[in-house]
Amino acid sequence: MTQDEMKLAVARAALEYVVEGRIVGVGTGSTARMFIEALAGMKDRIAGAVASSEDTRQRLEGHGIKVFDLNEITDMPVYIDGADEITPEMHMIKGGGGALTREKIVAAVAGKFICIVDGTKVVDYLGRFPLPVEVIPMARAHVARELTRLGGTPVLREGFVTDNGNLILDVKGLKIVDPVDLETRINQIAGVVTNGLFALRPADVCLIGTPEGVQTMTAE
Ligand code: A5P
Repeated sequence: MTQDEMKLAVARAALEYVVEGRIVGVGTGSTARMFIEALAGMKDRIAGAVASSEDTRQRLEGHGIKVFDLNEITDMPVYIDGADEITPEMHMIKGGGGALTREKIVAAVAGKFICIVDGTKVVDYLGRFPLPVEVIPMARAHVARELTRLGGTPVLREGFVTDNGNLILDVKGLKIVDPVDLETRINQIAGVVTNGLFALRPADVCLIGTPEGVQTMTAE
C-alpha cells in the first residue's frame, strides 16, 4: 500500500466524524485535500465548512461547499486535519504546508480535533520534522537568534509567504522533550505569530493509515 493510499483511507474514514447538519473545520495539506474530495460526497448533509487556508477555501468552494468566516461561528463540533508528526500523547508538529496559524485558530474553536495521517507520521518524540514558526517579517532575524538560543537551527522558508502575509522559519535540531513547555516558550518570543507545535491543544482522535487498515488512536 502506498503512502497516498493510506492517506486516502484515513481521509475517507474521517467522514464518520463529520456531524450531519453542522459546520466542519477543514485543514490543509495533501491528506486534507483528500478529505475535501471525500467530504464533497456528503456536502448536502452538512451546513458548511470553515477553512484553515486560502487553498482549502478555494477547494471547498470549488465543490460547492459553503465556507463560513470563523467569526460567524460560535460552535463547531469537529476539525479534521493532517499532521507532519504525532506522538502517542497526541502532540503534533504541523505547518509543513505553512498554514499553521489558521489551523491552530480553527482547531481552537472546534470541539474535537480529528487528526488524519499515514503511519509514517507517528513518532515517539517530536522533532525530526523541522518545526515551522510563523514570524512577522520585521522580527525574522530577532526570532531566528532566539530560536538558536533554544538550541535550534532556523532556516527561512525561501520564497514563501503565509496567507497572513508573514514568513516561516523551519527550525531543525530542537530537542523537544516537553512539547507543551516549548510551544509556550516559542510563542512568547516577540514577533512570533504561532509555532507548529500543537501540544497545548492536542488531537483528540488520530486516524492512522497502515497497510493493515485504518487504526484509531486516542489520548493515553
Ligand atoms: C499544513 O500547514 C500542515 O499543517 C499539514 O496539516 C501537514 O503539513 C500535513 O500535511 P500532509 O497531509 O500533506 O502530509
